[in-house]
Amino acid sequence: MKTSIQRIRKAVIPAAGLGTRFLPATKAVPKEMIPIVDVPMIQHIIEEAVRSGIEDVVLITARHKEAIENHFDSNYELEDTLDKRQKEELAEVSRRVGRLCNLISIRQKNPAGLGHAVLCAEPAIGNEPFAVLLGDDLIDAPVPCTRQLINIYEQEGSSVVGVMSIPPQDTSKYGVVAGKALSERLTDVTHLVEKPAPEHAPSTLAIPGRYILTPRIFDCIRDTKPGKGGEIQLTDALQLLAERERLLAYRFEGDRYDTGDRLGFIDATLAYALKRPELAPGVIDLMRKHLAKK
Ligand code: G1P
Repeated sequence: MKTSIQRIRKAVIPAAGLGTRFLPATKAVPKEMIPIVDVPMIQHIIEEAVRSGIEDVVLITARHKEAIENHFDSNYELEDTLDKRQKEELAEVSRRVGRLCNLISIRQKNPAGLGHAVLCAEPAIGNEPFAVLLGDDLIDAPVPCTRQLINIYEQEGSSVVGVMSIPPQDTSKYGVVAGKALSERLTDVTHLVEKPAPEHAPSTLAIPGRYILTPRIFDCIRDTKPGKGGEIQLTDALQLLAERERLLAYRFEGDRYDTGDRLGFIDATLAYALKRPELAPGVIDLMRKHLAKK
């Protein structure tokens, strides 16, 4: 690691959205608390951050999201009751979640876009480089995706966004990047467009919600006008960042699931259940049973 490069210790996780893509489930329950098997989606995301070396998680939150903070706190009543019933293993499941990281919660008072949400984290981030992880994207990889990006940041000393190749018809779902290929996986980014129509997309390299950013992004966000949907888009601020300092894109290794989409959610649920030895045989039997009926 170059000596001038600061260690990435903090991650921002925007979690202020209304979750309208998942109604009615999200009417009273934050979408981040919906589980994949038995682990809330936000816990999968925070575990990726922690396994990547993150210590402090800055959660950008909103009204009615208290369940997320409670989940990462201790729950004395539950843990004590489990201890008294000699269910120490279950008590430890609860305690471990409470110990995962330091959680710093900041309210985004109006839904002004992802760029605005990241700017809300500035008082907790200060003048340090940091990671951003979006909660709708689960990435299953032996080396966590955020760790892969931190490794690139440590080698290259510049901001880096995780990218994946997508089918051309899907460009309108993502921030799309283009630039000069430096190697098979690394691109020097010159252009970013938020959710372009396929005919206007500069490439088919999309950002599925993983970023390592230098603190210069905050000024870029402040200088960004409302874009797509009238919101301050992080992708537009990244375009400014790419003009002011080097921005890289890294095609990460791993399986990505869009859990904000109903089919993507079912895909993730099946994949994560099949990875659990105690569940896999039962899940396969269930799938056979349902397929036989089709
Ligand atoms: C956001 C970002 C977009 C990114 C996507 C990844 O969009 O604005 O650039 O590609 O997340 O999931 P959203 O899906 O929140 O509309």
